[in-house]
Amino acid sequence: MRLIDFIPKPYSKTLDNGSVTWSSPSNIALVKYWGKREPQLPENPSISFTLSACETITKLNYTKRENNGNFSFDVILNGEKKDAFKPKIDTFFKRIEAYIPFLKDYHFIIETQNTFPHSSGIASSASGMSALALCLMSVERSLSEVEINELFFTQKASFLARLGSGSACRSLEGPLVVWGAHQEIEGSSDLFGIKYPFEVHDNFKNYQDVILLVDKGQKQVSSTLGHNLMHDHPFAQERFKQAHDNISALKLVLEQGDLDMFIKIVESEALTLHAMMMTSKPYFILIKPNTLEIINKIWSYRKETGSKICFTLDAGANVHLLFPEKELRNVLKFISTELVAHCENGNYICDNIGLGANEL
Ligand code: PMV
Repeated sequence: MRLIDFIPKPYSKTLDNGSVTWSSPSNIALVKYWGKREPQLPENPSISFTLSACETITKLNYTKRENNGNFSFDVILNGEKKDAFKPKIDTFFKRIEAYIPFLKDYHFIIETQNTFPHSSGIASSASGMSALALCLMSVERSLSEVEINELFFTQKASFLARLGSGSACRSLEGPLVVWGAHQEIEGSSDLFGIKYPFEVHDNFKNYQDVILLVDKGQKQVSSTLGHNLMHDHPFAQERFKQAHDNISALKLVLEQGDLDMFIKIVESEALTLHAMMMTSKPYFILIKPNTLEIINKIWSYRKETGSKICFTLDAGANVHLLFPEKELRNVLKFISTELVAHCENGNYICDNIGLGANEL
């Protein structure tokens, strides 16, 4: 696919008003995306588990209007008008206008809600931007005379979601999505995420993700700022190469079900992500003392019990615990006796791998 393939032919149908609703989940990267170039293209490929319980549900209401050269929309979060979200959506609309030419012909009311608390420190941009991109694609489908097939629909929705928030392009399908061109993954692209195209060992079936909410505060450093700090980063090239190598290694792990190797790759990726932050200019630290307490307890627990639990992190202090479904009971016990003390107000979210977005 090339950029030009995402520019639609003039629409033949008209629509006065209507609404579409999509739910779209969050995702957690195993090999991390950190570093981007214009326009929202990744410096290295990444791969993620799609989540299930943590999702955004977005209803897009559209009403035809006179095109006056501006975008016209309102954002409603959990039933309340949220003007603070408008600049981000305005930027998103500007970036996608060439591919979604009807944007200025409608007034939109974007009604959105998350199944996870907004103040949980869990980024809602992946689920939120992917849900909105899918809604726009549903409108495009209704305006278009030519049949839009499922593959193109999903690819273009992912392409649009990427322009809203990079990692959002990995939320549409599941259980595993690759974003960014990788030599050994046919069809992988910097432009959009694709469903991981190979067989995955049963060991990873219904893998669990419990998110320990260590710090529910707002992000101190936006991910855009963090990505941009990779531009002059002394370790950037080595890091980008490492991500390619880790995806190659993970491919074998996913095929063979090698959980020990899985742990090594995933934990190393999480720590490398934060090491990049600590060694950029300016440097910053997003993990908290409780993040480290939890990591140490996971390592001890693994040593004592032979568990295959591991951790990963995103751009914050919260810890994602990844483990096989058959360990669920034991891990929940471990969380309540040892880890919950390190969570803000004792909060955590139980999730598992999911299959992606749904039209409602
Ligand atoms: O999509 P963004 O721009 O918020 O970047 C997310 C980056 C990480 O969550 C840290 C890693 C990843 O691959 O999801």
